[in-house]
Amino acid sequence: ALTIIFNTTHPLSASAGFAILGGAITWELVSAFKDGFVKAKLTGRDLAKVNKPTLPESMGVICATVYLICLFLFIPFPFMDWFTGKGIISRSEEFHVPTFPHHKLGEFLSAMLSLQSMTFLGFADDVFDIRWRYKLLLPAIASIPILMVYYVNFGVTHIVVPIPLRFIFGRIMDLGFLYYIYMGMIAIFCTNSINILAGINGVEIGQSLIIACSIAINDLLFLNDADPAVEAHLFSLYFILPFIGVSLGLMIHNWYPSRVFVGDTYCYFAGMTFAVVGILAHFSKTMLLFFIPQIFNFIYSCPQLFRLIDCPRHRLPRFNPLTLKLEYSKVKIQKPLKPLSLLVLKIFMLLGLAEINEVGENSLEINNFTLLNLLLLRFGPLHEQTLAIFVMIVQILASCLAFTIRYRLVHFFYEI
Ligand code: UD1
Ligand code: MG
Repeated sequence: ALTIIFNTTHPLSASAGFAILGGAITWELVSAFKDGFVKAKLTGRDLAKVNKPTLPESMGVICATVYLICLFLFIPFPFMDWFTGKGIISRSEEFHVPTFPHHKLGEFLSAMLSLQSMTFLGFADDVFDIRWRYKLLLPAIASIPILMVYYVNFGVTHIVVPIPLRFIFGRIMDLGFLYYIYMGMIAIFCTNSINILAGINGVEIGQSLIIACSIAINDLLFLNDADPAVEAHLFSLYFILPFIGVSLGLMIHNWYPSRVFVGDTYCYFAGMTFAVVGILAHFSKTMLLFFIPQIFNFIYSCPQLFRLIDCPRHRLPRFNPLTLKLEYSKVKIQKPLKPLSLLVLKIFMLLGLAEINEVGENSLEINNFTLLNLLLLRFGPLHEQTLAIFVMIVQILASCLAFTIRYRLVHFFYEI
């Protein structure tokens, strides 16, 4: 791995260069465009502050644009040997005439097309506030280009069944068309799960950065020439390094106290970057392991997302102007409850995930079911910045768990 990392003529050095450049440009451009966004009424109110200041929103669109430009400029680098003739000379020793690796270029272009579509649709969502059920479909649409390339390049739709389940399904199971549904759902999940673990300064980018660094570390573990997966993990690094760069550039403005909001554009862009990389570099399962907090937050949110329990427009924690701290936010529901809602509440109570208070004759108050509120429920009121740091610690611990599962416990499930 070290020979690749310290080889300055390797495309990876160019990628790292674009990451640094992209970060600096994003940092600069966000400052330059802030007022323009306010004038264009792309704004949101910072709800967890005393005077609820109005801040420019959807700044993710700048971050994503800089990222895409970096990738456009980067495209020639992995193919440099072909342009300088080196690739042809070294391959001409083989007996067949080498052809340009169009399939690899196709992967690059489709990945960028998907990312660009997602950014565009995410920005449209920020401007028009698209309704929840349509919102869900946007990432599925944006993932069509990469699914198409996946079909043409690999077309692999079978999975190796984990050992404990083999007595039912056998060793190999072909999912066929369902595999494409699975990949589309990964795109829907990655994007939306980041979007709903949001609401306090710095948390959208914070979690994305930790996921991105975990993916990068995982890629580095595969970087030795003998590993058959080296190409795939290099592909992943080419996308993840600039992502880390531009996200850091935006983070400087979005960390507590925020000067700008990232908007749904950033959440979709970040999620789609992970989905693209996980799908085209074939490690979607490992990638999902880095999403443990998001998976938890999503499952925990399900009763509200599927309206078993009322879901207010905002579920972010409540700011207490007297203590200047955040407290968990609550939702009021009317009795009598549907049997299924009652069952969910009982289970959540048992697990210590819900706090229920009677208010008046026939209504109840429950905490909103999000990870942010749960942390506040367990640890008591916290300062906004402290809560953001807590979320990031949870994300880091989850990544440690993910690595343990992937490299230690994996032997219980697969013969590696
Ligand atoms: C998702 C959540 C919603 C949460 C919101 C916060 C679900 C189903 N939806 O909705 O509960 O309230 O994200 O992002 O879980 N904001 C702040 N401080 C921040 C970040 C955002 O006050 O640090 C507020 C601002 O008013 C901003 C708004 O949240 O304008 C952005 O909300 P938006 O992204 O439109 O909400 P959703 O993604 O639809
Ligand atoms: Mg959002």
